[in-house]
Amino acid sequence: MNLFDVYPINPINIVRGQGSLVYDNHDTEYLDMYGGHAVISIGHTHPHYVKRLEDQLHKLGFYSNSIEIPIQKELAEKLGKVSGKEDYQLFLCNSGAEANENALKLASFYNGKKKVIAFSKSFHGRTSLAVAVTDNPKIVAPINETDNVIFLPWADEAALEEAFKNNEISSVIIEGIQGVGGIQVAPESFLQKIRSLCDQYNAVFIADSVQCGYGRTGKFFSHDFAGVDADIYSMAKGMGNGFPVGGIIISPKIQPAYGMLGTTFGGNHLACAAGLAVLETIEQDNLFQNAAEVGGYLIKELNKLEQVKEVRGRGLMIGIELPEELAHARKELLNKHHIFTGEAKPNVIRLLPALNLTKAHADRFLEAFVNVLNQ
Ligand SMILES: Cc1ncc(COP(=O)(O)O)c(C=O)c1O
Repeated sequence: MNLFDVYPINPINIVRGQGSLVYDNHDTEYLDMYGGHAVISIGHTHPHYVKRLEDQLHKLGFYSNSIEIPIQKELAEKLGKVSGKEDYQLFLCNSGAEANENALKLASFYNGKKKVIAFSKSFHGRTSLAVAVTDNPKIVAPINETDNVIFLPWADEAALEEAFKNNEISSVIIEGIQGVGGIQVAPESFLQKIRSLCDQYNAVFIADSVQCGYGRTGKFFSHDFAGVDADIYSMAKGMGNGFPVGGIIISPKIQPAYGMLGTTFGGNHLACAAGLAVLETIEQDNLFQNAAEVGGYLIKELNKLEQVKEVRGRGLMIGIELPEELAHARKELLNKHHIFTGEAKPNVIRLLPALNLTKAHADRFLEAFVNVLNQ
């Protein structure tokens, strides 16, 4: 049987990893400035992570959500503490798209309304509602098309106010920093405006934190920089450091009812062990602070390079916009210097490394990048 060929693939076979370094089957070392697409939050094979998963696996890997699963409560408590949203409620699932799917559905259950506001260049996932609020017609199948989504220009307060006027809006979904859209930071005043309009019209503010959340920017949620709380935060990627864990946290004003949401695999014992290992490591190793410091250093140094058009982002979520003639830089970083980075079109290099990236590894990247720019 062949694999369904949907990914353009680099001919590299990564077989092991440690921290921010990974190795291929010929034992060539690569620096991982991409974190496997923002997934590796505490570094590859972190010893605490490996041990916690191993211990759990020896006890119990899975049982269904029809029984008590105390490790879910443990994860919820730790997440409340580390994120500062202690009075929120946690629903666990398995991916970012699923988290957004549940968030949008829950919002509609809550206020009985149907319309969703999303923004240009947004990416929220590939399942039915998640892809419908994603601004990329190429990945929306005819069956996903709906009149319920209103796309507005990014950060346009007047357009936002206008869209709310007929009082049909169920929710607004926004990334605190657009990832796939090219690392665009949502202006704080815009997030504050969303908060006040959602309050005024009883709509639900959904903060998609799948890529920009979990401490990547130096705060738990990048939306926190605006000083307002969303009603639902969706999370995945860094939450399990590679184990598929997703979830939403839900404001106390939204009440649960049996059957409203559900999942077979979400919140299983192993997933919760992975989630706890990540949060414990974030806490123990002060990883928010490291993300802010090493990320701030990278942004400062990148801003000094005159060939770079623009540097955007916060902490360890960084976009480097390059002129057309330097479009080859990302490939050169990989092929010549063995450094993985991400991309966004057109010509944006995305850095999404583990939150414990060291300054020495940041310098190794900067040196290689300068070399590539000056060829
Ligand atoms: C902001 C954002 N939301 C949602 C998703 C979808 O997550 P998943 O691929 O886990 O379904 C992604 C994935 O890249 C994302 O970046």
